[in-house]
Amino acid sequence: MPKRRARGLTGRIALLHSVAHIELNAIDLAFDLVGRFSSELGPNANEFVTDWLKIGAEEAKHFLLVQNCLVGLGAAYGDLPAHDGLWEAAQNTSSDLLARLAVVPMVLEARGLDVTPAMIERFRKQGDEAAVAALETIFRDEIGHVEAGTKWFRRLCQRQQLDPIKAFKQLVEQYFKGSLKPPFNEAARSRAGLLPQFYQNSID
Ligand SMILES: [Fe+2]
Ligand SMILES: [Fe+2]
Repeated sequence: MPKRRARGLTGRIALLHSVAHIELNAIDLAFDLVGRFSSELGPNANEFVTDWLKIGAEEAKHFLLVQNCLVGLGAAYGDLPAHDGLWEAAQNTSSDLLARLAVVPMVLEARGLDVTPAMIERFRKQGDEAAVAALETIFRDEIGHVEAGTKWFRRLCQRQQLDPIKAFKQLVEQYFKGSLKPPFNEAARSRAGLLPQFYQNSID
């Protein structure tokens, strides 16, 4: 794997390349939710499909924004190897909608909210305004993605008479390989409706 902490242009390209890879996977993940799970939603299927089609379109916009930044630096998506963590998470949760929502929007996309502000600052310091603008758009939209994931998770728990906090913790322990690592961007997570009770002390 290329060193994302490498300095200068190489490091910026490696970081943007890893973001582009995440966004490309996120397109597939949004449409996979629609195709794989919308039949489970009964009368709510229309709203579910509408939410995730919009999110899929935003992920496509994110990919193009980041790809344009890469091209501006003389690179392109596909130049570097990329890891498969997001797609593995999708495969692991392909038979359980609650697990998918817990792991993808509520753990992985929420993690994006934690790390993106520092990334924005890094590009700002290097004077890369195109990357700053792209990442600011991504950050803003991703709050909506975490919000949609949390909304549907809560609704499905209510339908199945499950405690959402307990269910989330169980599913994360069962389906998510890593641990939930602070520091958390509590302000952004709360704007998305993802309250600290979900992610604090998740091993308890
Ligand atoms: Fe995105
Ligand atoms: Fe997203």
